[in-house]
Amino acid sequence: MANRNEALPMPSFGSLRLTALRDRLLTNPRFVSWAGAFPLTRLVARKRAADLFDLCAGFVYSQVLLACVKVDAFEILRPGPLSAEDFAQRTRLPIDGALRLLHAAEPLKLVEKRGRGKFGLGPLGAAVKANPGISAMIEHHAHLYTDLADPVALLRGDVSRTALADYWPYADGNRPDALQAHQVADYSHLMSLSLPLVADEVLDSYRLDRHRCLLDVGGGEGVFGESAAARNPDLKVMVFDLPAVADRAKARLTGRDLDKRIDTIGGDFLADPLPTGADVISLVRVILDHDDANALRILKGIHAALPQDGVLLLAEPLAETPGAEPVGTYFNMYLRAMGRGRPRNFDQISALLTKAGFDQIRLKVGRHVLRTGVVTATPQR
Ligand SMILES: C[S@@+](CC[C@H](N)C(=O)[O-])C[C@H]1O[C@@H](n2cnc3c(N)ncnc32)[C@H](O)[C@@H]1O
Repeated sequence: MANRNEALPMPSFGSLRLTALRDRLLTNPRFVSWAGAFPLTRLVARKRAADLFDLCAGFVYSQVLLACVKVDAFEILRPGPLSAEDFAQRTRLPIDGALRLLHAAEPLKLVEKRGRGKFGLGPLGAAVKANPGISAMIEHHAHLYTDLADPVALLRGDVSRTALADYWPYADGNRPDALQAHQVADYSHLMSLSLPLVADEVLDSYRLDRHRCLLDVGGGEGVFGESAAARNPDLKVMVFDLPAVADRAKARLTGRDLDKRIDTIGGDFLADPLPTGADVISLVRVILDHDDANALRILKGIHAALPQDGVLLLAEPLAETPGAEPVGTYFNMYLRAMGRGRPRNFDQISALLTKAGFDQIRLKVGRHVLRTGVVTATPQR
């Protein structure tokens, strides 16, 4: 299947002239000032100015959010509104710092004014508090912000070692199976905290009740495998990940209700054959952190491990998903900092799947804000 961009028709001469005219007008200060005053264009001009302001200030918004998470503001405000003085005391910020944080966080809907001089949780602060995975994601973004301090140097490839490359040590491709427990602990914990929302979305999109055995490749601490087993009482599950991560999965699952139905297996999916015996194999948030050559190697390994009537279930945020386009912006820069991988659109994933020997490739897009793409495919007969 062709890449969506390659398949786009050439724009006509007329539409090229129109877009060139639009570009000239929108960069002309006299036109911009006229459009800002003229009643019919005023609203559009205002909206554009506000969007541009958000783009300029976005980094500051992120830092305000990070500060709130670091001082545990949402937990502190959860039981009820506090005065600025009490908030300062609980967060151990000086009163000026506490007031600045509260006033900065209020327009971002992280906190809100309640009554006389008090502040409570805002709707977005409450949403952060409702999901422990979000706070963990926000905190680990401190590495990303360090790496983005000079975005041009990052894009030129002038940064020798990034903070995110250290955080995801398998990304350098150097004997990932030799990684030690302490090197995989932080990212594995983060993944397992952030997985439940994604797992529900994937399992709502594709029912596993017609399958006997699921192999979750790159299955981390086994959270997806455990959710799948919980929904499907007859399903056996195998979780495959790097040896140090598989050990964490085993330790986490041991003694839990479903551990009799879940096996953990350590290995390197770029070098070792995958275990056989599963009639459905999942890849959740895995191939986006690999370049095409390695993504293809993983998909071929899955093809080899699946029976003829087996199914591949691939789930990850997709580039160019209508309504969730900025997800592509985020992952393009994030994965550049991490050192490997890229977000792909459905056509690009389909092309890789076809090369690896799959067909009947189908897409469903989830409802959550990241709109995880759930792609199913079967080995070609
Ligand atoms: C981004 S995480 C996703 C984990 C899990 N599927 C989830 O969504 O939370 C990618 C996973 O792939 C695993 N991984 C990376 N390289 C690997 C390799 N060469 N062999 C086996 N697993 C690998 C990592 O240890 C990690 O658990």
